[in-house]
Order: sequence, then structure tokens, then C-alpha cells
Amino acid sequence: MKNHQHRSNKDTSESTSLNAHPLRVTAPWLADAPRPITCLTAYDFTMAALLDKAGIDLILVGDSLASPMQGKGNTLPVTMDQMVYHCACVTAGVQRAFVVGDMPFLSYQVSTEEAVRNAGRLVQEGGVGGVKLEGGAPFADTIRAIVRAEIPVVGHIGLTPQSVNRMGGYRVQGKGKEGEKNFRSRTRSQILADARAVESAGAFCLVVEGVPSELGAEISREISIPTIGIGAGNSCRGQILVTHDMLGLSLRESPKFVKQFGNLQEAVLQSVVGYVSEVIAGNFPGPEHSYGDR
Ligand code: KIV
Repeated sequence: MKNHQHRSNKDTSESTSLNAHPLRVTAPWLADAPRPITCLTAYDFTMAALLDKAGIDLILVGDSLASPMQGKGNTLPVTMDQMVYHCACVTAGVQRAFVVGDMPFLSYQVSTEEAVRNAGRLVQEGGVGGVKLEGGAPFADTIRAIVRAEIPVVGHIGLTPQSVNRMGGYRVQGKGKEGEKNFRSRTRSQILADARAVESAGAFCLVVEGVPSELGAEISREISIPTIGIGAGNSCRGQILVTHDMLGLSLRESPKFVKQFGNLQEAVLQSVVGYVSEVIAGNFPGPEHSYGDR
């Protein structure tokens, strides 16, 4: 009976034709995905439900919410309580995609104990299936501890936005010269070492951000877990963008690596201007939007 139940769970959650579009995306499916992995960010129920309906594999509740949700200039002010709240909003709207919660600044850097507890909050209170944290080799022990608690971990190396103050801005990484002290950029070999360290610590996939395409390709060849690129070229085994950027909803200038697949800002502005002019002209609400006596 137990075996049978186990098999039927697997059948409904992981297998469809050729296993290329599972009915429910899981961490093991992502780790071994038979085609490029599609990922986007969401911070609320409605957007999450739309991304899920469109067939996105992985939804990241990123600390990038600092800009579109909070109007902040970087991700550092985002707190654990805020991440838990947004994770719960997102998971309420998702049936198929695998949802990953971002670990915000200072939620995992102080101690591995705090890191495990905070990762656990995102799972227990936020309902996510896995967590993401920034940093390479120096965070291998932290990743190992979270994985030991049976929480799937996504690594994040290259341009790590929580390092904005050390880098003095957002800078393409992997450009530092070997052997030279450079706060702005890590070297190619440091980033390759980061990728290997994150893989051997047990992460099941790795976000690679803001590195030259050749380095993105080299990392993708070097490690066996899937790489998810953002500004890391076309050779990564998946891609991620901030949804507000790719939909043309961001009010701030987007980085070079963003392709705008829509212009929702324009659509919102046109709709609201239409509403304002109809209300002022007395044309809305018309009879079709009003209740009669009977
Ligand atoms: O916070 C975030 O949204 C991210 C992705 C852009 C990778 O870390």
C-alpha cells in the first residue's frame, strides 16, 4: 500500500509526457530538468497565480521586492517578517510551480543556527519549497546546515545584490585580476570556486548573476547542478528575471540584461486615464454597471 501510494504521488506530481512539463515541479525535478528551467519573481498572490497559470517552473519570492513593493533603493532593508509575509501571499496562489523564498540580509550571515531557523520560517510560515541565499565558498557551511534540515537550497553567486556596499554599486563580476585586491569584483577563479563550493555543500541549483557569458558557460559546464542565469548569458540551464522588469512595470531603469516582454506600465496608465476621464465626464457607471430597483 505504502509503495503504491508513493508511486501514484510520483505519477501525479512529476510525470507527464517525456517529463518535460511536470504537473507539479519539485526540487528533484529541477535538479535534473530535461529542458531549460523557466523562473520569474513574484511577491503577491495575483502575480504568482498568473505566473503559475502561464507555466513558469520556479517562482522566486526575491528580496528584490524592496524596489517594486517598498520603493527602496537596495535589498538591505528587507526583513525576515516581510519575506515570510510575501512568501505566504505567493504560495497561496501557486499550484504547479516550485516556490523559493529568498533569505534577506542578516537572516543567515550571523550564525548557522539562525540561518536554519530563518530558512525554516520561510518553509513553515511562508509555505515555500526551498530557500535561496547569496554567497559562495564562505557560506558553504550555512548551506550544508540548511540542507541537513531537509530544506532544498538554491545558491546565488556572481553579482550578489546584498554586497552592494562592498562593491560600491552593482558591478559585473568575474572581472577582477587574479592576485590583485579588488573590492568591486571577484575574479573568475574565485567565482568558479564559489560555484563548486555551493554545489558540494548540497545546493540543488545555482543562480549566477551578472558575469560575462563565457564565465556563465564555464560554470554551467563545471558543475552538475543546474545554473539559473540572470545577466550570465545563454548557456545557463535556466533563466530568471524580475517580473516587474520583464513586464515593463518597473519605475526604475532596468539593467542591460533585461528584455522587456510587455509594457504593462503603458497598459496601466491608459486604463487609469480612461477611468478618470469617464468618471469626470459622467459616463461611468452606465446602466450596465448599475443596479435597478428589481
Ligand atoms: O531577489 C531576487 O529577485 C533575486 C533574483 C533576481 C535572482 O535574487
